[in-house]
Amino acid sequence: MGIGVLASGSGTNLAAILEAGLPVTTVVADRRCRALEVAAAAGVRADLVERRSFGLGFDRVAFTEQVLEALAPHQVELVAMAGFGTVLAQPIHDAYPQRILNTHPALLPAFPGWHAVEDALAAGAQITGCTVHLATLEVDAGPVLAQQEVVILEGDSPESLHERIKAVERRLYPRTIAAVLAQLREAGQGSLAIRAGVR
Ligand code: GRF
Repeated sequence: MGIGVLASGSGTNLAAILEAGLPVTTVVADRRCRALEVAAAAGVRADLVERRSFGLGFDRVAFTEQVLEALAPHQVELVAMAGFGTVLAQPIHDAYPQRILNTHPALLPAFPGWHAVEDALAAGAQITGCTVHLATLEVDAGPVLAQQEVVILEGDSPESLHERIKAVERRLYPRTIAAVLAQLREAGQGSLAIRAGVR
């Protein structure tokens, strides 16, 4: 039993999850990306369910079902989205109820969405951060499990700020995943009450 990680990008959060010794049983990417190389280097199975191959009239439910098919054989008890670039449809929430985590580069509910780092800078915020939360069908709106602040520095670019946020995510996310996994295993199936406040 273990964790299925969904990724689309450089895979540094995936690498941190692996380095923390968390039991990743499989990785699924929605595009060719460095995260696939991170998985391969760690000897972890990875599948590519290419979003692009779904064409123009993107069928989100069919895509989600294919992601589920990729996860199914790998004893996944918890799904961790680590920079996954596709919003998934209801079937994944039915398959893994309250068992999908996400990390977001802002202090939710502030700055949800794809451009959280740019939006924090554009708003003139002085503090932003990262949020680990339970993923729900509504994007970036699920219950918060852990948050940590990051100070915005004068002269920060989206890249420099995002890099500092990611450095914090790489510590906070594996720790939160470990805590949730321990609770899941303690509670067994069906009686999960996620406790917040991992720091
Ligand atoms: C993280 O900042 C995450 O919050 C966001 O995408 C980034 C993923 O980075 N959704 P990486 O691919 O793990 O390096």
